[in-house]
Amino acid sequence: MTTTTKGEEEEESEQVVTPWDVSAGADGKIDYTKLVREFGCSEIDENLIERIERCTKTKAHPFLRRGLFFAHRELDEIVSAYEKGEKFYLYTGRGPSSESLHLGHLVPFQFTKWLQDAFKVPLVIQLTDDEKFLWKDLQLEDCRRLARENAKDIAACGFNPETTFIFADASYMCSSFYVNMVKIAKCVTFNQAKGIFGFTGDSNIGQIGFPPVQAAPSFPDCFPHMFGMNKKSLKCLIPCAIDQDPYFRMTRDVSHRIGGYKPALVESRFFPALKGESGKMSASDPTSAIYVTDTAKEIKNKINKHAFSGGGATIEEQRENGANLEVDVPWKWLNFFLEDDEKLKEIGEKYGSGEMLTGEIKQILVDVLTPMVEEHQKRRALVTDEVLDVYFNPTKTPKVFLDLFREYEEKEFGKWEKKKGGGDSENDDLCAALEEKMKLEGATENEEGCAIGAPKSEDWLRIRKERMQRDAPTEGSKSALKKAAKIKAAAEKKAAEKAAKAAARGEAAT
Ligand code: TYM
Repeated sequence: MTTTTKGEEEEESEQVVTPWDVSAGADGKIDYTKLVREFGCSEIDENLIERIERCTKTKAHPFLRRGLFFAHRELDEIVSAYEKGEKFYLYTGRGPSSESLHLGHLVPFQFTKWLQDAFKVPLVIQLTDDEKFLWKDLQLEDCRRLARENAKDIAACGFNPETTFIFADASYMCSSFYVNMVKIAKCVTFNQAKGIFGFTGDSNIGQIGFPPVQAAPSFPDCFPHMFGMNKKSLKCLIPCAIDQDPYFRMTRDVSHRIGGYKPALVESRFFPALKGESGKMSASDPTSAIYVTDTAKEIKNKINKHAFSGGGATIEEQRENGANLEVDVPWKWLNFFLEDDEKLKEIGEKYGSGEMLTGEIKQILVDVLTPMVEEHQKRRALVTDEVLDVYFNPTKTPKVFLDLFREYEEKEFGKWEKKKGGGDSENDDLCAALEEKMKLEGATENEEGCAIGAPKSEDWLRIRKERMQRDAPTEGSKSALKKAAKIKAAAEKKAAEKAAKAAARGEAAT
């Protein structure tokens, strides 16, 4: 059994895992060990989980503790850099092809929300309305509408609107995004794309040209309003299910050639379809999945009638042999969504040994999912168009960075003078003061337009720290405050000089 890409000759027994097709092998299971080997990623081990818990001071999410997010690419490097004080940004996405999300789609978004909170980092979410237009029998206008509808479900997962930017390709595409796309596209031959994605002579040329669209957001300069124009201002971490790996394998292969960092990945197993791992959750078969729009009654009916059971065919058989947890869908779903580790363990033992019956575990699942879905629906109802517009706003200021890096600055270099209130001009003042501070500290390698406060290179932080230690004020935080005031005064002076120069230029011209 080997993993194929779409378009290759497939034997009946082969598992298929591509961004567009996922099906299990002949035994009805996905062989994840084989997938890791063939894709060339690594498994997440206990040590890495412990390091994440230590540096975020947060207990690992159940998805991580239970090995549901099980594979990665250079997540360890992201963690090592974070341990030294370097931040990163998160990037994930959704292809809007249906009115609402199913529970499987919630998996990466819930995990991303946990990562955002634990690491306190910004996040970008791509809605590939273009991808779904190119692959599905849908009008582009429908995909654009679905992108906005799906965004409401995504926002309902609770992402911080100040540090989260959601964008749909057909609306956001801007110059810096396009520049990244063409640079990536030039590095990948058609033969390579065929090998990675299984394109054939029948693929439309929009499909063949699409992978750079999903690759580009791995580079921070696709978002100049958030991260500036420096392709190396921040590293990127991508949470997703392992089906998306081909896109980012390609991205990682070309990263250095276009002058960027390789994006890191943290990848999950698949949340199985209701009718069993070999099936597919499909919008055309509503009984194959539970949707975030389902009612309590629908949830109960679907689970009772359609959830694939590994339990015995009769009560006697179940009591005698217990359930096969390897294939049992209610058990697998509880592993994703039942938070209580102890309770989960107990259910596994009782159901696996035959002490618990299929009807009982199904009822437990109904009791877990119904409030979860209802809670989601309540939160979604609060996501009005105005709320959504905040996530979609492409003019977020570098305020994100001021907040992000303040914590680090305070720890490393003394206190900041914290500005009260909001408003753009205050923000501009702070940005100017920060820029000035960086200049005074000799951080002249700061490229124009680079995200304010973001680390520029591995060396930069070290140089800066050494300078700060050399010039460290001796009177503690009071003098640090004085210094901040001085910095602000210098910034104001500079702004006044700039204004005077501009005025003089204006006079000369007339
Ligand atoms: P899409 O819409 O197919 O899926 C959205 C996200 O959900 C994950 N996913 C699942 N996770 C667990 N169990 C499942 N059964 C399951 N089905 C889907 C997907 O891996 C994905 O993370 N092309 C992408 C959209 C995209 C994207 C990205 C995804 C654009 N940029 C960056 C991840 C990261 C797509 O169509 O996803």
